[in-house]
Amino acid sequence: MLSKIDANKFHTLIEINYLLNSNYKDINSLLSRIMESATRLSDAEASSLLLMDKEKNELYFEVALGEKGIDVKKYTVKLGEGIAGWVAQNNKSLIVNDAANDKRHLSNIGEEINFACKTIMAVPMRIKDECIGVLELLNKKDEQSAVKGFTQEDVEWLEIFANQAALAIVNAKNMEASLNEIKKLQDKISNNHYHAMIIKSPCTLEKLEIIDKVAKTDSSVLLLGESGVGKELFAEQIHLRSSRVNAPFVRVNCAALPEGLLESELFGHVKGAFTSAIAHRQGRFEMADGGTIFLDEIGDLPLSLQAKILRVIQEKKFEKLGSDQTIAVNVRIVAATNKDIEELVQNGEFRQDLFYRLNVFPVYIPPLRQRPEDTIELAQFFLKNFMKETKKNFEGFSQDALDSLLSYSWPGNIRELQNCIERACVIGRNKLINTEDLFFKTNKSPDTDTAAVDDIHDLKIAINIFKTNYIRKILEENNWNQTETAKALAIQRTYLSRLIKELKINNP
Ligand SMILES: Nc1ncnc2c1ncn2[C@@H]1O[C@H](COP(=O)(O)OP(=O)(O)OP(=O)(O)O)[C@@H](O)[C@H]1O
Ligand SMILES: [Mg+2]
Repeated sequence: MLSKIDANKFHTLIEINYLLNSNYKDINSLLSRIMESATRLSDAEASSLLLMDKEKNELYFEVALGEKGIDVKKYTVKLGEGIAGWVAQNNKSLIVNDAANDKRHLSNIGEEINFACKTIMAVPMRIKDECIGVLELLNKKDEQSAVKGFTQEDVEWLEIFANQAALAIVNAKNMEASLNEIKKLQDKISNNHYHAMIIKSPCTLEKLEIIDKVAKTDSSVLLLGESGVGKELFAEQIHLRSSRVNAPFVRVNCAALPEGLLESELFGHVKGAFTSAIAHRQGRFEMADGGTIFLDEIGDLPLSLQAKILRVIQEKKFEKLGSDQTIAVNVRIVAATNKDIEELVQNGEFRQDLFYRLNVFPVYIPPLRQRPEDTIELAQFFLKNFMKETKKNFEGFSQDALDSLLSYSWPGNIRELQNCIERACVIGRNKLINTEDLFFKTNKSPDTDTAAVDDIHDLKIAINIFKTNYIRKILEENNWNQTETAKALAIQRTYLSRLIKELKINNP
């Protein structure tokens, strides 16, 4: 142990410790700082910090201070060669106070750069007992000292500095690993952006439960439902709830590209496969290996490609365009369509065998008009989002606006609701979004589809839908004569008139 504490050395150590805990980013300047302190405090002429290159089994100069520091940096030292090589190999500190006569000392570097090495002290830098590099101090300036060369106490101090340097390297490595991980996750988010899914209606919650169960298997899933109901979000949930979650989720819109381009998009091509194929290209199936491929608008898939997709599903194999080399993949298939796919099969526009393969697990996503709880929740969610975007502030929806949202039939489903709220957010002038702020695509009256009532679990909404249907039916029977209708309904004419207004029943 150190026999006495030198105040100067002690303060330097505290200073380095502070730097170690506050500055991980510029590792080289931190290591240089450690070496400068070690050199100054040991009264050495020059010093080096060498790091181990495990693959090459050699040490390279990370820091080299002193008159010839720059010159020495181009050299590397084999493990076992020279003093530093000996220290690295033996994982032991060493003092050589008569370098000229020590067989372990390699004089060639010194001769080449014209630097005479007389005394040397070198210590290993260790991480968990493994030597990762060497600190080396050269030529003790000991003109006035009675003792010539480096002492045991010098070595003990240098070992403390070596620990500090090793810590700095561990910190920097951890920092680099964390930054890489963050980068990877950021890439994942930007390439694989998943949507926040808002769900509150019992009928959609039930679908999510089904999805959760099927997600755990490798079965193909066919998502059915009108445009804009959220099929893509359900597809994302299948992937996110599956064991493939950390592998890619690759989306392909089968309706977005012409046949030839779609084929190369799906299966990739080799250079020269066709005129514009100037380089090899990986297809979506290959990218999705280990994960999930989402084939959106599968109803629009050209017949020629249907046969190829069928083969991937059955054999999990395919060839790139222009190549006869077979590629094997492990991909889970989720497909979606808003078309009546069974009708397409009947008309010969969709292969029956492919339909059966995809239809292993069909899931029908109900339209928004059958999801009143979702409608309100989604409207609030979109309002919050658009408020952030437009920097406007609303307290919410007026009761009237909520009633209108619930009574509209939403032919464009959630996509249409999203647009409607966006417009309202731009137009709205008051604290609450009012009915006047909500522009509907068509001026359709409340949903009169009786089938919808079956799926609605809120009694008030169900009663209103029933009332609307029933009053409209009696009005029609009485040629929209309100006096006759009131009589038929056994209610006051004024009450009927109020109901017609409240329920927004229009004479088409
Ligand atoms: N439950 C939900 N929560 C939040 N946003 C949703 C939800 N469902 C759908 N959306 C949003 O509504 C829009 C339409 O959804 P999506 O694209 O999944 O519909 P789709 O059924 O695939 O329609 P299409 O058949 O037209 O492709 C998207 O912007 C999506 O983010
Ligand atoms: Mg879609």
